[in-house]
Amino acid sequence: MITNTELEQKGSQFPTKITSYKKDIDTLYFYTENNVALQLTVLRDSVLRFRYSTTSNFENDFSYAITKYASRGYNHLEIDEDNEKYKIITQKLICHIHKANLKVTLYDAVDNTLINQDELGFHWEESYEYGGNIVKMSKTSHDGESYYGLGDKPVQLNLKGKRFENWVTDSYAYGKGTDPIYKTIPFFTGLHHEKSYGIFFDNTFRSFFDFAQERKKVTSFWAQGGEMNYYFIYGPQMCDVVANYTNLTGKPHQLPPLWALGYHQCKWSYYPESKVKEVTAKFRELKIPCDAIYLDIDYMDGFRCFTWNKEHFPDPKKMVKELSDDGFKTVVIIDPGIKIDMDYAVFKEGLENDYFCKRADGPHMKGKVWPGECYFPDFTKPEVREWWSGLFKELIEEIGVKGVWNDMNEPAVMEVPNKTFPNDVRHDYDGNPCSHRKAHNIYGMQMARATYQGLKKFAYPKRPFVITRAAYSGAQRYTSTWTGDNIASWEHLWIANVQAQRMAMSGFSFVGSDIGGFAEQPEGELFARWIQLGVFHPFCRVHSSGDHGEQEPWTFGDEITDIVRKFIELRYQLLPYLYTSFWQYLNDGTPMLKSLVLYDQEDVQTHYRTDEFVFGDKILVCPIIEANAKGRRMYIPKGTWYNYWDDTILKGGKEIWIDADIDSLPIFIKEGSIIPKYPVQQYVGEKKINEIVLETYYKFGKEVSTLYDDAHDGYDYIKGRYSLRTFKLVGKKDELIIQQHKSGKFITEYKTFKLKLHGLPFKVSKIQIDNEEILFEKVKVNGDNTLIIDKDFTELHIIGG
Ligand code: GLC
Repeated sequence: MITNTELEQKGSQFPTKITSYKKDIDTLYFYTENNVALQLTVLRDSVLRFRYSTTSNFENDFSYAITKYASRGYNHLEIDEDNEKYKIITQKLICHIHKANLKVTLYDAVDNTLINQDELGFHWEESYEYGGNIVKMSKTSHDGESYYGLGDKPVQLNLKGKRFENWVTDSYAYGKGTDPIYKTIPFFTGLHHEKSYGIFFDNTFRSFFDFAQERKKVTSFWAQGGEMNYYFIYGPQMCDVVANYTNLTGKPHQLPPLWALGYHQCKWSYYPESKVKEVTAKFRELKIPCDAIYLDIDYMDGFRCFTWNKEHFPDPKKMVKELSDDGFKTVVIIDPGIKIDMDYAVFKEGLENDYFCKRADGPHMKGKVWPGECYFPDFTKPEVREWWSGLFKELIEEIGVKGVWNDMNEPAVMEVPNKTFPNDVRHDYDGNPCSHRKAHNIYGMQMARATYQGLKKFAYPKRPFVITRAAYSGAQRYTSTWTGDNIASWEHLWIANVQAQRMAMSGFSFVGSDIGGFAEQPEGELFARWIQLGVFHPFCRVHSSGDHGEQEPWTFGDEITDIVRKFIELRYQLLPYLYTSFWQYLNDGTPMLKSLVLYDQEDVQTHYRTDEFVFGDKILVCPIIEANAKGRRMYIPKGTWYNYWDDTILKGGKEIWIDADIDSLPIFIKEGSIIPKYPVQQYVGEKKINEIVLETYYKFGKEVSTLYDDAHDGYDYIKGRYSLRTFKLVGKKDELIIQQHKSGKFITEYKTFKLKLHGLPFKVSKIQIDNEEILFEKVKVNGDNTLIIDKDFTELHIIGG
């Protein structure tokens, strides 16, 4: 008889002293006596990559997260050493690598302050269960340090004192604190002593983050396999950290079509066709703006993707066309599970070409989803993505569907305890074959990517629109997202607010929740309050499971319908502002929603705030998240703000009570702002926009505002056919000056601006445009402080006295 000798458990292992070092352009290698290697790459002055191996050799360097468009290059790189350490110095950072133990310390290069420091630093445990290592990193947590980010975690914005897991999970009716849920975004920002940095742990295995929970002075992260591979991103402004992370993992590849920023209506499910039409007709009848209508799984034939239930939808092309004539874009759901059915072309094709995932021992990965037993495409194989993208030809090119909604792509599997594939399932991982342990967290992202490629191809020359439930870092390049199956409760309204803000500070701004709640049914009041928040989320869609009744804007009586209409109208008025903010996100990686800490990190009052946020960069919003409220207490960030509803002026830096009855919401405009507005339309493109209103908020001092515009769809803007206007406002005691700077080749449809002046401290006596005095009648100056001027003015002087 043979008895196994018990494996010796080695516990954590650590690098020993550095024995050699080499430099290869911008990459440095450090080797230790016990064969640990650290590869340190200087990507930018503020971005360093750390990659560790315990065998001196590195695996093939491949990442789904990092975009090929990431900026690289630094202004300064200097390497120095003394007895104790190597010093890597860039314009922004000083990095010490300690010779005795490979530990890392990072300082601000400008003022030498300590930013981040290894506690135990890199260490690892051999995993006897899986082979390979559990790779770990621990860092010192500084006094007063706060932590943010990590994607869709439904908890307080500040993550300090908590531990999290990243494993993309179908989480029907999750709650506050449920972890993990749908997304894996292993990126966080740390903030202490007014300085912020970020860490992106690019490892797709099941990973964990502990923010000073287990040990008060320690923050750590680890993964059940793969490499310790992280990017250190320095600010010191958190907004720059997020922008740099977004640069690294990618900004959306193109602007969404403007209609995608309109209001969307969804339900599980609208069918048959007559029901769809009844709903869309009601929107037009009640004059509630709406741009998109969704078809959930019941439009298909037995839940077979890329088919139609011909009984309910006898002529989809005709229906989609009629909807489109009425301003509605049709968006349809597509799930990853392909029904096992030899009479179903998609299944047959997938099978014949070996596109489906297989178990380690050979058989296909079989799992139950809506259609019953299914196989699942291996979206980590380029050939499969190519095939998948081709499947959209009919839906998009022929039928005219405008957007695709990818769901259940965690991947979700029913009736199994782990809700997904078993770990042994094999994946191609773009030529780096691996098990599901490594591919799980990026499966959904690769599905959304393949879908995106299909839409991009077949919607051309229009822009694609995709929405996904599962995501990994970088998915924002291809798709928008929503926060999954929430519940119609006040707590979930709080969660929706936190999740959207957290996603935005995790590089993924095109986000929204199921407004009103997916499971169960909201009361009218909750629905109205949720709409009030939802219109300030980049993605704005009402969706519900339909189990408990209707959830259209008119479901809850006239009073609620009127409130809902008022706020959806406000969103449509703010479309140019929202579009400009999307353009800024696309260009600079600036998050479209800014939590107060992101807005003003120097103010410690903001570090634990959760409810208030800045929409774009000028509109402060705070949702009402309790029943029967007539208003609420909220923190107004430092600076001076105008109450949107009555123009009263408030000095920030304090918490105060703000009235907001059921038909209102606390909204404030930063002084000096110029907010562009459209007239209300029932859908994008309904009206010819001849004039843009510029809500102009006087400030004693300077402020810059922007207005971006283009054809609202298509790719001409990439070739320079856009219009970008920068307004520089300078307010003096008895004068207001607005200088306009224009760029881009696009001729906007609007011809004039209607300026509405708010808070002007003087009576207008004279107006000069481009150095010429203008008669009041010419610019239609009214008693209500509005004036109409040509859009191409360069300098406007409004003079009092
Ligand atoms: C999932 C989705 C939900 C959808 C339903 C039916 O639960 O999260 O949005 O309505 O599946 O497709």
